[in-house]
Amino acid sequence: MIYRPMQKTDLSAVARLEEVCFQAERWSEEMFLSSFSQTGFVGEVCQNDRGEIVGYGCISCVFDTADLYNIAVAPEYRRTGLGTSILRRLIASAKARGVEKMFLEVRPSNTSANRLYQSEGFFEISVRKKYYPDGEDARILVKEL
Ligand SMILES: CC(C)(COP(=O)(O)OP(=O)(O)OC[C@H]1O[C@@H](n2cnc3c(N)ncnc32)[C@H](O)[C@@H]1OP(=O)(O)O)[C@@H](O)C(=O)NCCC(=O)NCCS
Repeated sequence: MIYRPMQKTDLSAVARLEEVCFQAERWSEEMFLSSFSQTGFVGEVCQNDRGEIVGYGCISCVFDTADLYNIAVAPEYRRTGLGTSILRRLIASAKARGVEKMFLEVRPSNTSANRLYQSEGFFEISVRKKYYPDGEDARILVKEL
């Protein structure tokens, strides 16, 4: 596996993987493009030995805080440590920019993501009621970097 910063030329492949991982709530390629051009955007991708993007994550850093926008790994590559490595790389990039806290939102029903975040030191600070379009709450987590 190769881990490297996300480039503009990755965005169509990232958007395709996003579709596989998030279905209805996915970001479009246009949403990635518009975020990519913002100051403070940091993205990381993971490529297999055929050069295919099989995981990605991105954050937005503003002053001393960062928000995790998305993180996803292709279904056939899950549970092999890619998500952890991508998240750690995003955290390292955020720290290098002077970020002190990283925030994220997650569905309580998303067991895999909740376990990943917990094992990387994120903890709950609040719950946003009926945050998602289907009415599910969002857990708001933070990690002190
Ligand atoms: C969440 C996600 C990114 C995790 O990626 P991953 O590469 O499978 O994660 P890792 O292999 O690094 O797993 C790290 C830890 O998370 C937990 N975990 C991951 N998947 C899990 C699962 N299906 N069940 C239980 N725990 C799980 C485990 O504690 C795991 O450590 P372990 O394998 O040593 O026990 C991946 O499941 C995914 O893409 N999901 C769909 C998109 C998504 O929901 N993104 C998050 C939105 S908030």
